[in-house]
Amino acid sequence: MSPTAPGPAIEVAGLHKSYRSRAGEHPVLTGVDLTVPAGTVTALLGPNGAGKTTAVGVLSTLLRPDAGTVRVAGHDVVRDPDAVRARIGVTGQVSAVDDLLTGAENLRLVADLLHLGRAAGRRRVTDLLDRFGLADAAGKRVATYSGGMRRKLDLAMTLVGEPDVVFLDEPTTGLDPRSRRALWDEVRALVAAGTTILLTTQYLEEADHLADAVAVLDGGRVVAHGTPDELKAAHDAGSLDDVFLALTEPPAATDGTTDGTTSSTTSGTTDGTHETSETTEKETLR
Ligand SMILES: Nc1ncnc2c1ncn2[C@@H]1O[C@H](COP(=O)(O)OP(=O)(O)O)[C@@H](O)[C@H]1O
Ligand SMILES: [Mg+2]
Repeated sequence: MSPTAPGPAIEVAGLHKSYRSRAGEHPVLTGVDLTVPAGTVTALLGPNGAGKTTAVGVLSTLLRPDAGTVRVAGHDVVRDPDAVRARIGVTGQVSAVDDLLTGAENLRLVADLLHLGRAAGRRRVTDLLDRFGLADAAGKRVATYSGGMRRKLDLAMTLVGEPDVVFLDEPTTGLDPRSRRALWDEVRALVAAGTTILLTTQYLEEADHLADAVAVLDGGRVVAHGTPDELKAAHDAGSLDDVFLALTEPPAATDGTTDGTTSSTTSGTTDGTHETSETTEKETLR
C-alpha cells in the first residue's frame, strides 16, 4: 500500500491542457494551481468554455495533462491512474445512467463493474436506493424518471464504490429548486462523513451555500480562490455574482470607473512550463 499522508485530497500545480486537431492547438488550461483539503467542498466556477469539464477530466484520469502535477487522494494521476480511479467517483455533466435499465439495475451494474461481490453489492444498492429516496422507483425503467430522480441515481452510482474524492460536474444544472436542495443535502452529508468534493457549477448561489472554498477559473487559470466570504470581501462585493462578474468580465476600457478594490486572493503563476506533447489520442469525456 502506498503512503497516503493526510495531506490535501486534491493538489494541482501548473496544470496545462490543450486540445489538438488538424486546425492546430487549442490551449484550455494554462497553469492551473489548486489545492482542496480532505473533507471539504470546493466549487469550481467559470464561464462556459473556461475549462471546468476539462479540469475534472484531468483530475479524474479521463484526460492526460500536458504538463504540471496532479495528485488526487495521494496518488499521481499520470503515474498511478488506477490508484486514483480506485478512490474517486465522477458524476459527469452528461448523465451516465442507462434509460433502458431500472434504477436498481443501473446501480447493480456499477457494483458488478467494481467487483463488490453479490451480497455486498446487493446491500450497497439497497442502501443507496433508500438513502436517495429511490426505493419505490427502483424497479422502474430510468426512462420514466424525472430529472431530479435521474440526478440522484447518477450520484448514487458515483457512490457505489465509496469514493474518498467525488467530482460533480454541474450536478444541479436543470434541476428544480427542491431537487437542487435535496442534492445539496446529500453533498453536505457526504462531506460530513469525510468525503472530499470538487463540484463545478453555474449557480453562484449554490457555491455560496455549499462550498468551503470557491475557485474561479478564467483564461486558463485559477484567478481567485478563497472562501465565499473572503472573495466577497476582497472584491467589496455583496454576492458571489458580483465577484464572478468582476473577475471574469472582459476588462473595461479605462474610464475612471474603478472602485479601488483589490483582489488580494488573485493568484496565478507564470512558470512557462508548458511542454509540447505529441498526444493525438482521441479525447472525449463520455
Ligand atoms: N474533446 C474536445 N476537443 C476539442 N476541444 C474541446 C474538447 N472538449 C472541450 N473543448 C474545448 O475546450 C474549452 C473548454 O471546454 P470545457 O472544459 O468543456 O469548459 P467548461 O466545462 O468550463 O464549459 C472549450 O473551448 C471547448 O470548446
Ligand atoms: Mg463543462
